Amino acid sequence: MNIQDDKKPLFKWFWNSYVRAHVGVLFIALIFMSIEGSMLGVLSYSIKFLFDNVLVSNDTSSILFVAVLIFSIFSMRAIAGFIHRLMTVNVCQKIIKILQDRMVGHLLNMDVGFHQKNSPGSLMDRVRADSKALSESVSEVFMTVGRDGFSLISLIAVVFFIDWKWSLIAFLGIPFLVMPILLLQGLVRSRAGENRDFESKANVRLDEIFHGITDIKLNKAEKSERNKFFDILQVTHKVRLRLEAGMAGIPAMIDIIAAIGFLAVMIFGAIDITSGSKTIGEFMSFFTAMALIFEPLRRLSNVSGNIQVAMASLERVFKIFEEKPSIVFSNLSRNENEFDKVGLEFESVYFSYAEKKIVENINFEIEEGTSNAIVGYSGSGKTTLFNLITRLIDPITGHIRINGVDLTDISLKELRSLISVVRQDGMMFDETILENIRFGKPMASDLEIRKAAKMAYVDEFSNELKDGLNTVVGPRGSTLSGGQRQRISIARAFLRNSPLLLLDEPTSALDSQSEKLIQKSLSELSKKSTTITIAHRLSTIVDSDKVLVLDNGKIVGQGKHDSLVKESKLYSNLFKSQVEKKNDE
Ligand SMILES: Nc1ncnc2c1ncn2[C@@H]1O[C@H](COP(=O)(O)OP(=O)(O)O)[C@@H](O)[C@H]1O
Ligand SMILES: [Mg+2]
Repeated sequence: MNIQDDKKPLFKWFWNSYVRAHVGVLFIALIFMSIEGSMLGVLSYSIKFLFDNVLVSNDTSSILFVAVLIFSIFSMRAIAGFIHRLMTVNVCQKIIKILQDRMVGHLLNMDVGFHQKNSPGSLMDRVRADSKALSESVSEVFMTVGRDGFSLISLIAVVFFIDWKWSLIAFLGIPFLVMPILLLQGLVRSRAGENRDFESKANVRLDEIFHGITDIKLNKAEKSERNKFFDILQVTHKVRLRLEAGMAGIPAMIDIIAAIGFLAVMIFGAIDITSGSKTIGEFMSFFTAMALIFEPLRRLSNVSGNIQVAMASLERVFKIFEEKPSIVFSNLSRNENEFDKVGLEFESVYFSYAEKKIVENINFEIEEGTSNAIVGYSGSGKTTLFNLITRLIDPITGHIRINGVDLTDISLKELRSLISVVRQDGMMFDETILENIRFGKPMASDLEIRKAAKMAYVDEFSNELKDGLNTVVGPRGSTLSGGQRQRISIARAFLRNSPLLLLDEPTSALDSQSEKLIQKSLSELSKKSTTITIAHRLSTIVDSDKVLVLDNGKIVGQGKHDSLVKESKLYSNLFKSQVEKKNDE
């Protein structure tokens, strides 16, 4: 087995984390493999009895003996083969299961920054295809090395036992194989990684196509999308062909060398038999063993190719585990009532994506139980402030505190229970409305959920549906309107009942009719908690205790509506433009 030095730690990691637990079972499987494999040697040797004791000596009394012998050999092979295959497949499936589970667990813990860089399609490919390819090629290698290894050993033992000179002649060509096989291995190694990369690319494109189906149709981009996908298929085809050519080349060479060995033995063997120093049975056994050697030898020669395929996937899987979340939560737990009511404070907060400054010098305080608003043009950094509060991202410099406690000193569980977020486009799952609301609080009773649904005016539309709250909403909520999805998001917030409520343009997807309904329920919701609303319609925030005006990542004004209208030029402009728009409608 030819594993490059830099791959050794990888292999060790895989062995220790995934294979080691199964060595006991694998060892037993190996025993059955040795039985299946060595039966080939026994079979080839028993040919000698068939010829010498029955056919050549015309002794019919031995027929039964030889028949029973051959039948038992095949039965043993069949039973042993069945058992070790089942055992190996079972271990292989267990490894896939654990590997995929751990990968998903790890990916769920990665922060949003990581998921923005890695497309869902490529991650799906890593979790599903790579773990499968890895585990399957490992089991393929194991099965080949075990079963074919023992076949080879037993057959070689038989041919050397019959005549070592014949054997040496037959294997004469093997040293000439070493160089070309090493060359081909190098080729296969480089192609195996490339092959997985292109297969993954194809999956990524498919994921993007099906996610973007509506936009593709509206832009009439079906043809160009199909062409782009076909281009990837073309390259994948080429790369795959090169990989297979490399892998097929090795057994082909073995066949040629084998033919030469065969010819030589035939000539020498015939001479020995005619001179009487060897029996016909021995020659036939030798010949059968030689013929049987090449199949396992061919498969064994492919082992290194399969290892390369496994390594390519192992590398991709390992890279996923190497990524560590950059946002680490505290393990501290504190007394339960500390956060019954929540106040918030930003101190000199600065955040950038790589070199690109997003918000800077952010200073403000939010008092317990107040309702607050953030306004500003799109792209000014409003959602970024929310992401900082929920720790989807962390400030580069500066501090954010809840009741005087730095966010970095609050555990993940605690922080999540403190905050409810209603986003512009909340995620829906292909389950019932009831389950989609339950997402806000997994342990909630049906009664609680129905109450939340009522308060968020979900009934308004769910009552019209045949199955009511038990209606399945389709992939990503596709059978609902934007406003209906939004009301489900708000129902989640009602259910969570957290002391801090963050609303990111919660009514932007709604028509003015349902906006009024939702506005009513939101003001109901905000009575109980501290709220911060990113408002796109300023009429809704006139009564806020505090408004933050954001411009290009900086706070350019904060205070109550009345004073801001006079003091902040930006705010009064924003307000005026909306009032004018309203009058136009
Ligand atoms: N993952 C990201 N990488 C780089 N820039 C980003 C990323 N997310 C948001 N931005 C940029 O940050 C700025 C503020 O975005 P955001 O806070 O969403 O604005 P708002 O909510 O006020 O419309 C925008 O210029 C946006 O392009
Ligand atoms: Mg935003």
